[in-house]
Amino acid sequence: MIKHLRSAADLDAPTATLILDTAAEMAALSGREVKKLPALRGRTVVNLFYEDSTRTRISFEAAAKRLSADVINFSAKGSSVSKGESLKDTALTLQAMGADAVVIRHSASGAPHRLANWVDGSVVNAGDGTHEHPTQALLDAYTMRSRLGRLDGLKVAIVGDVLHSRVARSNVLLLTTLGAQVTLVGPPTLIPLDVAAALAEKTQVSYDLDAVLPDSDVVMMLRVQTERMQDSYFPSAREYSRRYGLDVARMKKLPEHAIVMHPGPMNRGMEIAPEVADSPRSTIVEQVANGVSVRMAVLYLLLGGK
Ligand code: NCD
Repeated sequence: MIKHLRSAADLDAPTATLILDTAAEMAALSGREVKKLPALRGRTVVNLFYEDSTRTRISFEAAAKRLSADVINFSAKGSSVSKGESLKDTALTLQAMGADAVVIRHSASGAPHRLANWVDGSVVNAGDGTHEHPTQALLDAYTMRSRLGRLDGLKVAIVGDVLHSRVARSNVLLLTTLGAQVTLVGPPTLIPLDVAAALAEKTQVSYDLDAVLPDSDVVMMLRVQTERMQDSYFPSAREYSRRYGLDVARMKKLPEHAIVMHPGPMNRGMEIAPEVADSPRSTIVEQVANGVSVRMAVLYLLLGGK
């Protein structure tokens, strides 16, 4: 088993599949009255969140607690980070406390890689800048597999703000490792040429959402990340929504069996219409639930739980 999960590229197909299979076993537990397992008793998991998060943070905390680990939640606000303490000094503090795993979310791409040099425990990337978010990709893959029965050969459209999306990057890496066919869809300004070029053999690129939908098993809508935008990438929110938003009329172009995904948080009415987000095809709430099982599996396997 790998020691750290910093990138979806850390996962080969057998390792990724082992995580998904283990997550399925963890999910079976969630149906029981007593949800706790003693697997990580006596181990310490630190959640180190330098960036805002709702789902990911709660999900990692629930996952560690269900495995009986001791959980320490650290947020940049209200800590010495606001006094200017560096990531390295914070890492040394965690090291001194004997953290077995550090789950980190940071606005700087590459922060988890640096952290892994400074602590002895396992490092799990919970989102670094615009770079990667591997556990999101795992929970997305898990959701696709449980809804559609397979990943191999699945046609997945990832739509919208690809440029700023760590979710898209990790999904491209993981899904192609597992045999899915990924098409990136969005305005040319939001589909980075380097990503498209680097993954040219593995992914396709389209600027026409309407053309891609009829041939998709999965459509994954990305949040338009205005907080990361310094330039204007499209004329207006209305114009964006008209070309790349998933509304009810567009959803009807999908095949009967296709599912609609979104990692959250959503801009309802922009990249996704409320009626679509709340429709039976939407797996958005399921993705959140699956996130706990997948993160349990990741912590369990990385820490060699018993
Ligand atoms: C994503 C993130 O933070 O990268 N959300 C999440 O983890 N569920 C996507 C986003 O912020 O748009």
